[in-house]
Amino acid sequence: MKNMHEDLSGFDSPKPSPEGRACAKAILLGEHAVVFGAPALIAALPDCIISHDCGPSDLLDVYIESWNLRIKADSLGNENSRALAAIDKSLEGLGISENFRRRRVLVKSRIPSQAGLGSSAGLAISAGRLIAGLAGRDDLAAPEKSVLFAEESEKIFHGKASGADAAAAAAGGIVVFKKGGILEQINDFPKLQLLVAYSGSRPPTRKLVERISRQRETDQKSRRLLDSLENLSLEGISALKAGDINLLGKTMNNAHRFLSDLDLSTEKIENLVKRCRNAGALGAKLTGAGGGGCIAAVFMEKDPANLLSEIRDISSWADIFTIQPARP
Ligand code: PMV
Repeated sequence: MKNMHEDLSGFDSPKPSPEGRACAKAILLGEHAVVFGAPALIAALPDCIISHDCGPSDLLDVYIESWNLRIKADSLGNENSRALAAIDKSLEGLGISENFRRRRVLVKSRIPSQAGLGSSAGLAISAGRLIAGLAGRDDLAAPEKSVLFAEESEKIFHGKASGADAAAAAAGGIVVFKKGGILEQINDFPKLQLLVAYSGSRPPTRKLVERISRQRETDQKSRRLLDSLENLSLEGISALKAGDINLLGKTMNNAHRFLSDLDLSTEKIENLVKRCRNAGALGAKLTGAGGGGCIAAVFMEKDPANLLSEIRDISSWADIFTIQPARP
């Protein structure tokens, strides 16, 4: 929903503080296999979504500048409005009174929406942290509490959401996620550069998950591919823990091949992955549900900065993120 002609006065003078921050996410290994119980390795893209307070309002009223999107909380409104009302409800459930929840909030996002990078969870967590901070509830800033801000709103966008997006958005660093929650936060690995590029729109995650589930039931090759993706995820997790980023990269390259064999890649994705590998990426693959969406490429010694303009020419959006342990 675009709001090109809406009156946005009141969103133009955010106070420098307080603010609420959240990460986006890119799955390094384990997408789709995670649905069947495999662990997924997920990188949090740091400080991608930052919410700023712009003062009191008659309801929770949010403007996400780079998406040109204005959302007012309304439990009977469209999907976005219902999601914002759900964030408001979660905050209420955590004991935050109405005067702190009725705010005008300006959101700065470094990532596009609907690209599989966890923007909706990031929005919920950054806005939730801002409002909790205004209410003096610093106890809710911790990752294990902040995920609660996104609990209800993620159901609206993703149905029965796995919770991976919210977990990564709140935690930072790199996490191992298994259905149900974070299995482990990896706190000892060398600093990485992650280039993430958006190839363009994609089918809803739910549709792709359903297709892969059907394939798994009816086609032995697909089942084997999903098993191999699980093994690669385990191998990549061990590699990262051992600080072996070359091996992590190799597992990502192999995972990409298997995801392609599951018919989840596209010509654009293949092109982006190839360019990143040619430019020295240790590993490059589609990230998330596939069928479009994003790629992620890991770099260490080679600086991907020079590649960025070339990648931007052939993608809808691209950026480079420094990934390091959240709690070294
Ligand atoms: O919506 P995405 O692109 O972040 O994909 C989610 C990853 C899947 O494994 C395909 C689905 C899931 O719920 O884990």
